[in-house]
Amino acid sequence: MHFQVNPSKVSDASVTVPGDKSVSHRALMLGSIATGRTKIKGFLTGEDCLATMAAMQSLGVEIKQLSATEISIQGVGLHGLQAPTADLDLGNSGTAMRLIAGLLAGQEFSSVLTGDESLSGRPMSRIIMPLKLMGANIESDCDGTPPLQISGGRQLHGIHYDLPMASAQVKSAVLLAGLYAGGVTSVTEPAMTRDHTERMLGSMGVTVSKSDGKISLQGGQQLQGCAVNVPADLSSASFVMLAALLAERADVLITNVGVNPTRTGVIEILQGMGGDITLGNMQLLGGEPVADIRVRSSRLHGGDVAPALVSLAIDEFPVLFVAAAAATGKTIFSGIAELRVKESDRIAAMSEGLRNLGIQVDESPDGAIVHGGQFCGGTVQSHGDHRIAMSLAIAGTVASESVLIKNVASVNTSFPGFCQCMASVGADISPIEDI
Ligand code: S3P
Repeated sequence: MHFQVNPSKVSDASVTVPGDKSVSHRALMLGSIATGRTKIKGFLTGEDCLATMAAMQSLGVEIKQLSATEISIQGVGLHGLQAPTADLDLGNSGTAMRLIAGLLAGQEFSSVLTGDESLSGRPMSRIIMPLKLMGANIESDCDGTPPLQISGGRQLHGIHYDLPMASAQVKSAVLLAGLYAGGVTSVTEPAMTRDHTERMLGSMGVTVSKSDGKISLQGGQQLQGCAVNVPADLSSASFVMLAALLAERADVLITNVGVNPTRTGVIEILQGMGGDITLGNMQLLGGEPVADIRVRSSRLHGGDVAPALVSLAIDEFPVLFVAAAAATGKTIFSGIAELRVKESDRIAAMSEGLRNLGIQVDESPDGAIVHGGQFCGGTVQSHGDHRIAMSLAIAGTVASESVLIKNVASVNTSFPGFCQCMASVGADISPIEDI
């Protein structure tokens, strides 16, 4: 599948976007190992979360889909997971693989985790190393990539782990393994990362303490199932935000969006570039802050993006590259080497895509300088990466001619209904089978 994008007239609208991917994954995993029932509302039925759901079902958990966005889980308790009869295929999802590896490292049974071509090339040593320090036995391919073979019957012990990179996935894998470990498990991180795991563990009755930047939990704590209300995904909302900012005259409201402060870097960076973005109707929903986000068309200007904001906007750099390309002057991104090991090498993929649309980009190993300009029409590659496909699609809405984005099927991993949602704000993005 490809996207055909035509110059569009994005205008006033009120929209919602699907549920948060990170929160949906965690609700499935934690609800599965809790006692009692967990009911999830606002669940993201994207392929990544469906892979997690299938994996938890293969581990013996009864999970029912009550409606498009409602899930009911009959938790099996901390020690109730059962040996899977086949390998667990986590598709495209790094979050699923890394967090489930943490969950399975201390089980009585062995398991094998596999993924698609993109996931099979992603680094897993970052979780294997701390989990081995806790006593786990996990084998990967010799270059540290999947499949992962996890041996059963290992008694884990708590450790303190000082994360070498800012990664919520690594932090979560260690904390989840810590539930099965003797003693206390703790982590410190070089920069703040999303804390959905800590918040949801807290909502399910686990004591997670945080002091002086150290996050700790005592092993063996039981989780209690609860109602989980998944907010709309800020990462998905950022495509709508970008379309509204770049439009000639638009005023768009995106409702009920998760605005956890560990995720809002994109808002801060876009505001710093002159974006008219305001939050209203703030409330706390099941331990996560949510708000309605109002975005009005703005004249963006470039600048230096503060490295301190990188981990708080880690998934939004493809969007920010497009914002920078449409801004006046140049924008300097640095300290973003982690983007090279996401679903694609996002620095390379965005630099190539923007260049094909007539924008000058100077790439460096851990960053890029994007020179503002005008997008021309053309054909670009998504590199099988959902966020590259959607970011370049938004660029296409303000290009001088049509833009074709190739191989966009991965958009369904995080944002099913992307084209319909974008159509509701006036963006002319159509899926096409053949070219
Ligand atoms: C995620 C954490 C981030 C992010 C990913 C989702 C999570 O990865 O890029 O899309 O749900 O924990 P890292 O923590 O590895 O940076």
